[in-house]
Amino acid sequence: MSTERKRILTGDRPTGRLHLGHLVGSLLNRVRLQEEYETILIIADLHMLTTRPSREAIEQITQNARGMVLDYLASGVDPEKTSIYLQSAIPEIYELNTIFQNLVTVNRLSRLPSLKEMASNANIDDESFPYGLLGYPVLQAADILLPRAHLVPVGRDNLAHVEITREIARRFNGLYGDVFPEPEPLLGEVPTLVGTDGKGKMSKSAGNAIQICDDAATVKKKVRGMYTDPKRVRADIPGTVEGNPVFIYHDQFNANQAEVAELKERYRAGRVGDGEVKDKLTVALNEYMEPLRERAAVYEQQPALIDEIIHDGTNRMREIARATMREVRRAMGLDGAMKKIRRSVERAEKKRAKVLE
Ligand code: TRP
Repeated sequence: MSTERKRILTGDRPTGRLHLGHLVGSLLNRVRLQEEYETILIIADLHMLTTRPSREAIEQITQNARGMVLDYLASGVDPEKTSIYLQSAIPEIYELNTIFQNLVTVNRLSRLPSLKEMASNANIDDESFPYGLLGYPVLQAADILLPRAHLVPVGRDNLAHVEITREIARRFNGLYGDVFPEPEPLLGEVPTLVGTDGKGKMSKSAGNAIQICDDAATVKKKVRGMYTDPKRVRADIPGTVEGNPVFIYHDQFNANQAEVAELKERYRAGRVGDGEVKDKLTVALNEYMEPLRERAAVYEQQPALIDEIIHDGTNRMREIARATMREVRRAMGLDGAMKKIRRSVERAEKKRAKVLE
């Protein structure tokens, strides 16, 4: 055990392509740490069902999962070091979720602002609030604890769920003995990146996102439309740099920080037009994103490779999942309850599997 690398488990729901907010909030941490930790990324399609259980959403899982994995790879996730797996293909997730549901109170879950926010984003009111959505953090705890992860790189909106995960791990260990580590959350450099409209965090549904794989022309158009200091109706009016999305992006993505410092100085003095600030941001962003686009292009030409990566990752996860569940059942004494029946059902299952081969 001690020779094994510590694990990371994190991931995203397959609801669409990823944006720069995901990149600085969590993806860069995953890329940076994949050497040091055994990293596992989850395509959380079961979590998607908590707000979007429709047939249409399910039909989009394949395409969305492939797009999302392409964004991971573009960001620098190395499939040699990181496993990427499909949540719904691992039966042990459902199993562990059912066990964990008993280790947290309805009261604790129903106070979480994150769930209310997800509900309101999905136009779900109190009347139509699903039981599964209340259990969202419990399912997330099952994701994290199934591989017994130590570290969970997430954006700020997921912090409370990692806290619930820690509580569930403590509760389980207290009741049944030490099986799970208490995982630590890890926030990105910019836990919540502001959107291009300056109104709130970057999100696809708000229409204020720059996607990881946006092409140069799209980036230019989006930067052109960015919100800046509204006081500056003319270039000679002194502007505010702090909290201004254009400068937040300059700080984050422009490799030429001397240029940024000079732009800020002129902006404060009313000696630069928004056009110039934005044009320079476009150049900087495109320079930043070019290597990402190049990595994406390699995989775009071989879609079978992406499926192979998900296939291998899911197989790897299945192995880990089986091992953990054996320990969970043993720790709980569940494997001893009606042992004879359990064994004989297992034998019958193995026989059926053999016949199928
Ligand atoms: N809740 C995450 C999101 O906001 C997705 C997710 C599901 C996740 N399971 C996870 C993140 C486990 C980290 C760890 O999309």
